[in-house]
Amino acid sequence: MNAISVRSWLLVLSFFCTPLQGKDRVVLQLDKDWKFIKKEISLEQEMNLDNGSWSNVHIPHDWAIEGPFNLNQDMQFVKVIEDGDKDARLRTGRTGALPATGIGWYWRLLHLPADYSDQRVYIEFDGVMSNAQVYLNGKLIGQRPYGYSSFSFDLTDHFSFGTNNVLAVRVENKPEMSRFYTGAGIYRPVRLLCTSPVHVAHWGTNVTTPQITSKKGVANVKTLVKNTSHKEEKIWLLTEVYDSHGKRVASVSNTQTSRQDIQFEQNCMINNPMLWNVETPTLYTVVSKVYVNNELCDTYHTSFGFRTLKFDKDKGFFLNGERLKIKGVCMHHDLGPLGAAVNWRATERQIEILKDMGCNAIRTSHNPSSVELLDLCDKMGMLVQVEAFDEWKLGKCVNGYNLFFDQWAETDLTDLIHRDRNHPCVIMWSIGNELREQNDANGGKIARFLSDIVHREDPTRPSTAGFNNHWAAIANGLADVVDLVGFNYKHFDYVHQRKEHPDYILYGSETSSAVSSRGIYKFPVKENWEPWYNDYQVSSYDMDYVPWGSTPDTEFSQQDDNEFLLGEFVWTGFDYLGEPSPYGDGASSRSSYFGIVDLAGLKKDRFYLYQSQWSDKPVLHIMPHWTWPDRVGQIVPIQCYTNYPKVELFVNGVSMGGKEKDPTSKFTRYRMMWDSVKYEPGEIKLVAYDSFNKACEEKVVRTAGRPYQVRLTADKNRIKADGKDLSFVTLEVIDENGNVCPRDASMLFVKVVGNGSLKALCNGDATDLTSFASNYMRTFSGKMVAIVQGADTPEDIKVVVSGERLKTSELVIHVE
Ligand code: GAL
Repeated sequence: MNAISVRSWLLVLSFFCTPLQGKDRVVLQLDKDWKFIKKEISLEQEMNLDNGSWSNVHIPHDWAIEGPFNLNQDMQFVKVIEDGDKDARLRTGRTGALPATGIGWYWRLLHLPADYSDQRVYIEFDGVMSNAQVYLNGKLIGQRPYGYSSFSFDLTDHFSFGTNNVLAVRVENKPEMSRFYTGAGIYRPVRLLCTSPVHVAHWGTNVTTPQITSKKGVANVKTLVKNTSHKEEKIWLLTEVYDSHGKRVASVSNTQTSRQDIQFEQNCMINNPMLWNVETPTLYTVVSKVYVNNELCDTYHTSFGFRTLKFDKDKGFFLNGERLKIKGVCMHHDLGPLGAAVNWRATERQIEILKDMGCNAIRTSHNPSSVELLDLCDKMGMLVQVEAFDEWKLGKCVNGYNLFFDQWAETDLTDLIHRDRNHPCVIMWSIGNELREQNDANGGKIARFLSDIVHREDPTRPSTAGFNNHWAAIANGLADVVDLVGFNYKHFDYVHQRKEHPDYILYGSETSSAVSSRGIYKFPVKENWEPWYNDYQVSSYDMDYVPWGSTPDTEFSQQDDNEFLLGEFVWTGFDYLGEPSPYGDGASSRSSYFGIVDLAGLKKDRFYLYQSQWSDKPVLHIMPHWTWPDRVGQIVPIQCYTNYPKVELFVNGVSMGGKEKDPTSKFTRYRMMWDSVKYEPGEIKLVAYDSFNKACEEKVVRTAGRPYQVRLTADKNRIKADGKDLSFVTLEVIDENGNVCPRDASMLFVKVVGNGSLKALCNGDATDLTSFASNYMRTFSGKMVAIVQGADTPEDIKVVVSGERLKTSELVIHVE
């Protein structure tokens, strides 16, 4: 028991001391007591565990996120056909400039009491990046190459009860295995599962809702019960359904006798079912109880919802019979400065921010997401397109998924569907993004193979894919075999393709790819599809985008004018690590500019453009800031994102005129613009009028003075004492009057006092190579975020921020 801490030892014991009804399943979260080393070792060495060079880590763990950043680390000489490259060229920062490549080993002890030796033992991994090899007591138990797949191995035959077992995991990330940051290591949860020989299989339930009326809902529950005893067993399955208040609303039971695994199918009738939708995401829970010889031997929970989906080629998408335009965003899996290591609160915060914008859907580009993301989308009411692959057989990266496709694609896709099929939030399965097989005569066959897997495993949801080379995807038959045809960046061709292919159900699987740096404005203000500035930033006037993309406005007009489109998924909701277009070849950038929200989770101006178009909340947003000592007397255009019918602008009290949106012109259809305002210090003010011409809201921005102090604002002043919850504290440098200093780049030092820790700092500046794990960082456009964590004991913590010539600021976070 050298390496297992007393605390988790007690936890293990307490599980087994609790009286159980029979021997029900026991699930142990294996988050603590792991050892990690980042290097290759031989298995013999690995068994000689106590050599002191291992570090203690908690799972989820991303070994690369603390850096250091180094642009040599992921330098690639590569031709990116999708970006229009004619020849290979140097790429930097493409995967985040973080040390994610290499080999790492993890190990920890596992112990189960001797009187459990009649049980089965499984290990479940939600995701290991990548090429996981799992060893138990020195024996290779199994491997899983794809870093995004969840998987489980049966440990029973090699497990010794009543003594310590050594679980070891080897991880290997090859160079050039991805186009974006992957993270590194055991970055999603791990569980040890101990069950009776007869138990519900891994992902063994499949709940569908074949009938829904306001009076009655039918939940069809298929349950695969494993019988590993190889004896003839009389198995009684009691399936109960509970509503969101914990009240039992249905129960059905059946008995079957077999020596083998048994599939049960039961229909549960629920009166007056409450529907799941994006506003009121009501969930139900199926509790499956397995009895053998009248003794309860397994209990398994599955959450589900009642909702209907319809995708119509003429009228778009319907949720529960009501038309709903998909207002979606693509999201990579990293959590910015926290890396790939999944965290419930960080994921929840992303969804909160997106929902606040009016976003109703996420595309898990371009790979299986965390389980947490789907649980949260179920709970919070967010639709999801689950995507499986970014590559098939024709690779985009030399060491990408193309290496595994032949052997693993069917297993990876099937497992993904089994894992995610009960989530009501999931509305479609994407078999891939921008596959190079679009250009290949064989492409249609592979698309057919994958789409058939989707239909076989889940007849209730459509298959889809994201096509950037849509003409080729159509010519080679890929578009014909998916149920929903996703176009990436084809705003100019939706209408024509609909005429050519009236049976296609079309939508924008990836749209816009506008780029912006929070709080940075470039002059003159103009639409720019090849932005490049020597500070490696891009303009927040939201008219900069990549050559294959468009402004948000261009896509809006297509969506507004074409009822047949299901909607769009914007590239991207949040900035992510890697792919720093347009500065991917030798700049210091290491993260994207595509996000509507920056890497720290701070809103860019674009957030309000989407909010004004997507949400019903009143929106009145003014840009740019009004601190331009270098532009006195020069033109500084002012723009407003709003859903009010009329807005008037005042500069130092003088009206610059009222504006209404003008649908005849591309930009003024969605924004109000005052293009010839000359800068003078002071104040700019917007006054919004309702449809009765009554002034109803004002927005004022003032020229900021000298930086004076830092304002600290926590998204949560109270967090849970579970050692996992987080508070995201926004740090804003303000002048003596409380105005944010919008061009400030002060170095701030952040300290957490008490029993807590500073998890990360992030300012949203894609060019900043300061480690996220550092306790100091410069503000970017006057702001940054400190991510703070408490311990697992209820003790308040204090965040203290200081900086040169700034008054020190403090904020208490209650940990309870
Ligand atoms: C798309 C691709 C995305 C991202 C995006 C940037 O072509 O699917 O992964 O690279 O371009 O605009």
